[in-house]
Amino acid sequence: MDSRHILVTGGCGFIGSNFIRHMLSASPVRVTNLDKLTYAGNLENLKDLEGHPSYTFVRGDIADEADVERAFGTHVDGVINFAAESHVDRSIINPDAFIRTNIYGTYRLLEQARKKGTGRFLQVSTDEVYGSLGETGKFREETPLAPNSPYSASKAAADMLAMAYHKTFGLPVTITRCSNNYGPYQFPEKLIPLLVSNALVDRDLPVYGDGLQVRDWIHVKDHCRALALVLEKGVPGRVYNVGGGNERTNLEIVEIILELLDKPRTLVRHVQDRPGHDRRYAIDSTKIGRELGFEVSVPFRSGMEETVRWYVEHRSWWERIKTGEYLSYYETWYKNR
Ligand code: NAD
Ligand code: DAU
Repeated sequence: MDSRHILVTGGCGFIGSNFIRHMLSASPVRVTNLDKLTYAGNLENLKDLEGHPSYTFVRGDIADEADVERAFGTHVDGVINFAAESHVDRSIINPDAFIRTNIYGTYRLLEQARKKGTGRFLQVSTDEVYGSLGETGKFREETPLAPNSPYSASKAAADMLAMAYHKTFGLPVTITRCSNNYGPYQFPEKLIPLLVSNALVDRDLPVYGDGLQVRDWIHVKDHCRALALVLEKGVPGRVYNVGGGNERTNLEIVEIILELLDKPRTLVRHVQDRPGHDRRYAIDSTKIGRELGFEVSVPFRSGMEETVRWYVEHRSWWERIKTGEYLSYYETWYKNR
């Protein structure tokens, strides 16, 4: 078989599952997906690929040396590391798994890549490593790292380790730092699917503090296109910011969802703010545009319409998630806010 073999970690989560589907439809690649299936990993996200001849699933932990060795197999042409604990609020409740997976797990992958060799190692990072902006300005690749949550601190540590493996051992590492994604298959602890799924059953829509925090939203399809470009053409040792160019306050997001679902504003409940809450993110993504020709393709309004429709039409997907562990998390985090 002469198609490229890509190892994807965390492919059963939100972005990883969208990325695998994108890769298998866009190019002749073989994909191995190493995923631990934590609370956020869901085999249903890739059900349509079961039995696909170019897709292999390996259940395992990126922080476990034997699991990582098994997933690498005899040869990989590229590694893309999505596997992470990804929710800021859970990192405030308990940072433990964030340190283990996001830092130590990335280290184990880097070590295996160093031993076995790989064409590319793409570390999927986040704009949150830059910290928070005031009312003006944007994050550039040169902006100093200043993470504020245990989640973003663990991602910043992983970025530094990955770059150290490039500088010290010549591993062909690239890093992407993307802004907030939205789209199908996002776990309903994150703002947009949480609001949509709550509104559909007339539950409160919790808004932290004044709701005027700003995020720069990008459709997951566009993020996946950017990742495929960086994996193929990114220059080793470089960081690429990826943003949607869509700054919106959280209250604006709430308004759009209420309008699309025709639900009343009385559902909105302002709750106690997230500790250490970053006020504003905005991304300058001119570098990936200039160097790799990347442009955002999904307009925010139609992307939101399509996304909200997806959650309306996939009610059983999120209803199955919003049971058991999810309910105890929700109770712990939101009860006294
Ligand atoms: P997610 O929480 O939806 O999925 C994470 C996946 O990783 C799950 O399938 C989970 O089972 C798996 N996983 C967790 N720990 C693991 C371990 N130890 N070993 C193997 N698999 C493990 O996350 P997401 O939103 O899809 O984010 C994916 C990546 O993209 C993360 O690294 C995140 O930091 C980054 N990112 C996310 C966003 C966003 O808006 N969601 C934006 C920028 C960057
Ligand atoms: O910027 C990229 C990051 O985006 C990724 O690295 C993270 O993995 C991803 O979770 C996301 O982080 P945020 O903290 O920005 O996303 P979240 O969906 O949790 O929150 C978005 C905004 O909405 C934020 O200002 C907090 C606010 N919020 C969130 C929740 C869950 C609320 O007001 N109420 C809520 O219930």
